[in-house]
Amino acid sequence: MAQRVRKAVLPVAGLGTRFLPATKVIPKEMIPVIDKPVVQYAIEEARAAGIEEFIFVSAEGKQAIPAHFSAQPNLERQLEEKGKTAELKLVRDAIIPPGKIHTVIQHNPLGLGHAVWCAKELVGNEPFAVILPDDMVLSDVPCLRQLIDAHAKVGGHVVAVEDVAKDQTNRYGILDVLSEEGRLAKAKGLVEKPAPDVAPSTLAIIGRYILDPIVFVELDKKLTGAGNEIQLTDALSRTLGAVPFHGYRFEGKRYDCGTRVGFVEANVAFGLAHPEMRDRLRPLVEALLKN
Ligand code: G1P
Repeated sequence: MAQRVRKAVLPVAGLGTRFLPATKVIPKEMIPVIDKPVVQYAIEEARAAGIEEFIFVSAEGKQAIPAHFSAQPNLERQLEEKGKTAELKLVRDAIIPPGKIHTVIQHNPLGLGHAVWCAKELVGNEPFAVILPDDMVLSDVPCLRQLIDAHAKVGGHVVAVEDVAKDQTNRYGILDVLSEEGRLAKAKGLVEKPAPDVAPSTLAIIGRYILDPIVFVELDKKLTGAGNEIQLTDALSRTLGAVPFHGYRFEGKRYDCGTRVGFVEANVAFGLAHPEMRDRLRPLVEALLKN
């Protein structure tokens, strides 16, 4: 039985240049999908999967992210005085208790591998989750929960995967698959952003990982790869002989909020899944498509 996963690392240091001017002052992760910042969906998914401790790998000027998950006594008092109980609950539900939320500043954007390495001391020697908040997943069972359940059985590294179009392999970490059993794909290799003609498969890693701490041994070496960045995929690939590596074909649908079109798609999809909104939204979307 694998050790329990208690901690999650959330790389949120990006400048969000694709979303300028919206991200001039507001961190990209704080832009809402429907009524919640993108990063709150990631935290809620992680909490629903049993994660207790959160490590943001962030950059200067993005204090709004930890502030969003801290108590806001003035706001809470005013809502209380006005009897706005439902709103007060929304505000309080987002709080992560002190001691369970940490921020590490990544001074230079040296790559995803480097971002994860920045959390090394806070993670310590135990399995941990990595969540890239840009990838949002709509599913019956939270995506991270699915990974943690799979990890409890097979241990090692377990990453969420899905098949992408052949011409998209150069946007993802891609698995070289040894064997498949149910939703699990055992990998014998992985490559970061291969061109379609050399990609070993179309099975792509999306932004959810359960990692064995052995990855830090490789990240410590600070070797650069694709795009001259310190790649998480490369570090994972160098641990392949030491611990098992599985891709898990998660149940659910992923939305890539890292692009503007994906962001709009996520808003429509999460709106159509929103219990208080879907009945009013659906006819509006249908009408829009007819015109
Ligand atoms: C990162 C990883 C890549 C992974 C992707 C998932 O790429 O390097 O392996 O497939 O996230 O979203 P990025 O999107 O940061 O370029």
